Amino acid sequence: MNKNYHIYNGWIVNEQQVFRGGLVLRDGMIDTLYQGYRSFDDKDLIPLDAENNWILPGVIDDHVHFREPGLTHKGDIASESRAAVAGGITSFMDMPNTLPATLTQAQLEEKFQLAALKSLANYSFYLGASNSNLDEVLKTDPRRVCGIKIFLGSSTGNMLLDDIQVLRTIFSRSPLLIAVHCEDERTIQKNQAICREVFGEDPPASVHPKIRNHEVCFLSSFYAVRLAREYNTRLHILHLSTAEEVELLDDPLPLKQKRITGEVCVHYLWFSDEDYERLGNRIKWNPALKTEHDRAALLEALLQDKIDIVATDHAPHTLEEKNRSYYDAPSGAPLVQHALVAMLELYHQGKIPLEKIVWKMCHNPAVLFQIEKRGFLREGFHADVVLVSPDDPWTADASSLLYKCGWSPMEGQRFRSKVTHTFVNGNLVYEKGRIHDSMKGQRLTFNR
Ligand code: DOR
Ligand code: ZN
Repeated sequence: MNKNYHIYNGWIVNEQQVFRGGLVLRDGMIDTLYQGYRSFDDKDLIPLDAENNWILPGVIDDHVHFREPGLTHKGDIASESRAAVAGGITSFMDMPNTLPATLTQAQLEEKFQLAALKSLANYSFYLGASNSNLDEVLKTDPRRVCGIKIFLGSSTGNMLLDDIQVLRTIFSRSPLLIAVHCEDERTIQKNQAICREVFGEDPPASVHPKIRNHEVCFLSSFYAVRLAREYNTRLHILHLSTAEEVELLDDPLPLKQKRITGEVCVHYLWFSDEDYERLGNRIKWNPALKTEHDRAALLEALLQDKIDIVATDHAPHTLEEKNRSYYDAPSGAPLVQHALVAMLELYHQGKIPLEKIVWKMCHNPAVLFQIEKRGFLREGFHADVVLVSPDDPWTADASSLLYKCGWSPMEGQRFRSKVTHTFVNGNLVYEKGRIHDSMKGQRLTFNR
């Protein structure tokens, strides 16, 4: 049974406005959103003083790897969704490179069933496309599944789709959005051979952006965009990492009109190749972190609305795995617990407006995926709500991490803002360091 809340005395950050106000959450939905002060003569309502903190819509992360089934030594839906809600993320979309890979409707539904039992946040799952599961791809229900994921370059899980004919068929016939990982496999192999000659079998992590370089990303994104324009495909390019790829995207249009959209991940706005010396394989991601110039260009593209959303690509691996030598260490790192506060840190540094962060992490994922009744603080919408204390510095030390893998590339980082409360469907699942995990999240549905 839902409890009902009156959250008052906060600063609402929503739909490009910031104003003093409050919310009534009733039966899992936002019942009232008001400006200023109001009192309610209703004993059913639990009062919650927001203490002048920010009240935001919950973050929607369209790109996570929660590792279930099959890779649960790295993370699982229960552990990683706990970390997500502690970080202000109330909905996630999970990738198909699990074990087994999610390539059939039956495997997809198994994941939904797991999440219904275990996830604190709301959830959806991508179906993976491979060289040989076209029938399954075409059966996907657009109203109940977020999208189709295609790996155009190899990464964790060997899900490369390299049959051009299959690719063309999926681009021309997919019933729903196609999310692509763009890295050109032949160029990766060529660069790797050169690096092996120069650096041998145990190179420093800083070779990563030499192997998975700008050309690798541009060639593959260029190809995907060209194909999408040919077939008018609804294409979503994941984890943009270079200045050049941004130029391939449409000029800013209202998001609803775009056929080709782009995502950047927090780490490409936070780190650059200058950090490899300090952090080594811990910041080995696919695509690789590139230069300071790329980092600045990605932020600018976000500000200019060429890039539509910010996600995490949360991809935990164990420290033992990450401590291996360069070629054996897997790519990816956990991020969901720190993504929102990291973006808010960029706000404190004067690099991005607060409203823009909410737009790119909460509103736009809902618009881009046509999610039903989420992503905004609106009456009649699901009560996915986050309270943030803007000026309450803390350090991401090891003891505060909720990731099953127990480490973070953000370890030791000081953040000025702190998530204090997270509501998912009106349930208070995170409260000042404590997780309440009796109520589970819901399956996302889509207006398509
Ligand atoms: O860095 C990455 N990690 N990139 C991917 O494409 C996959 C992900 C993972 O699953 O580990
Ligand atoms: Zn990913």
